[in-house]
Amino acid sequence: MSSLNNESTRKLEGVIELLLESSSRINEAKPRRYWYPLSLATYGVDEIIEAIDSMCSFRTTMWEKTLLFERRFAAYQNCADCVMVNSGSSADLLLTFLLTNPCNPLLQPGDEILVPIVTWPTQIWSAMMAGLKVRFVDVSPETLNIDVDDLAAKISPKTKAIFLVHLMGNPCPMDRILEIATAHNLLIIEDCCEALGAEWDGIKVGNFGIGGSFSFFFSHHMTTMEGGMIACPNALTADHLKILRAHGWLRNVDLAQHEIAGYDIDPRYAFVNWGFNVRPTDLQAGFGLHQLQKLPIFNQRREELANRFFKFIDGELFLQRPLVSPRARPSWFSLPLLITSDAPFSRKEITIYLENQGVETRPIVAGNIARHPVGKLFDAFEQDTYLGADAIHERGFYLGLSPFHSDEDLNKLMDCLQQFLSKYK
Ligand SMILES: Cc1ncc(COP(=O)(O)O)c(C=O)c1O
Repeated sequence: MSSLNNESTRKLEGVIELLLESSSRINEAKPRRYWYPLSLATYGVDEIIEAIDSMCSFRTTMWEKTLLFERRFAAYQNCADCVMVNSGSSADLLLTFLLTNPCNPLLQPGDEILVPIVTWPTQIWSAMMAGLKVRFVDVSPETLNIDVDDLAAKISPKTKAIFLVHLMGNPCPMDRILEIATAHNLLIIEDCCEALGAEWDGIKVGNFGIGGSFSFFFSHHMTTMEGGMIACPNALTADHLKILRAHGWLRNVDLAQHEIAGYDIDPRYAFVNWGFNVRPTDLQAGFGLHQLQKLPIFNQRREELANRFFKFIDGELFLQRPLVSPRARPSWFSLPLLITSDAPFSRKEITIYLENQGVETRPIVAGNIARHPVGKLFDAFEQDTYLGADAIHERGFYLGLSPFHSDEDLNKLMDCLQQFLSKYK
């Protein structure tokens, strides 16, 4: 923090606490549809003061807090470098454009990339927009992760890369995937937007390939309001991403890597590539600095709640939770469930019941994205059938998981489910 002295910080704290209190009183007075919502706010006075500090110091655009947050996130993630962007979708976009980067192409437009069919759609759009040919891979309804047998079966001489997603915070089986990738010389990029803190064999997801994306949207493991990050295995990758992040402009990067001598240009305004503007603000980075400090406690609480919930589910008929490999340490994003195929009730029946009881529910990400209207727009969706994704589409749903859900909330949620299930015993 730079612009606020101790006295103004203390006064501000008092004002913000008052504001937060009155806003929670107003919210409590309103009729609430859900007592168990999908997400709850995890930020407070610290983050708000940090944002005000950026505004008062007139350093609202990407500045020193962004650099500091990138450095601290890299230390947490245990990777060489990090690049912050304005959303997880932008992180996915830059990662795929890194593959077909005109400045330093790793792949050619038209090369094939394998992508799981159950994911957040911007992962898919990124690969398409970067000029790659998407080949979809089915997803296991047991783990919610990429079906490794289908992955191996989909590889052809045209296949050059795999874009994984560690869905719901459950790490993909990295041993087999790395084996396959090495055997076929495939690049790996990872969408970790739902998996911040998850590990495979003690290694954080996002560190297995040439980059990993993270999302700091409101409901995620930590939030910067909107925001995202890319974990990089080296500083050169980070530099390429920084140029793509900001207009193709040679700013905030190691100048030595780029030849601009001999051009009749102002070197402060040198453009060495094409690019976007997906820069974050320093307000978001300031949020990130505080949220990152709280992340270990948030994730520990998520783990406690999820373990209790899944233990309860393990003792019930007709509902299954994702299987976890003994080598994986998930960082649960939510509480995903599938109704077993022999269940005497439908997904619709149980979710309507829960919604009527005040428990918010939603599909597992987008289900089988090929079954959405957008599926008609692109041939890639029509190449195959996806039985695993169909099972998730038809029988899957998820409930919220927030470090701010109380033990009482969780007990009430389990009672509520038990009451529904008792009708079928
Ligand atoms: C797996 C996955 N990838 C990408 C994203 C996109 O992140 P954002 O909402 O920050 O754009 C999300 C968002 O929830 C996600 O779940």
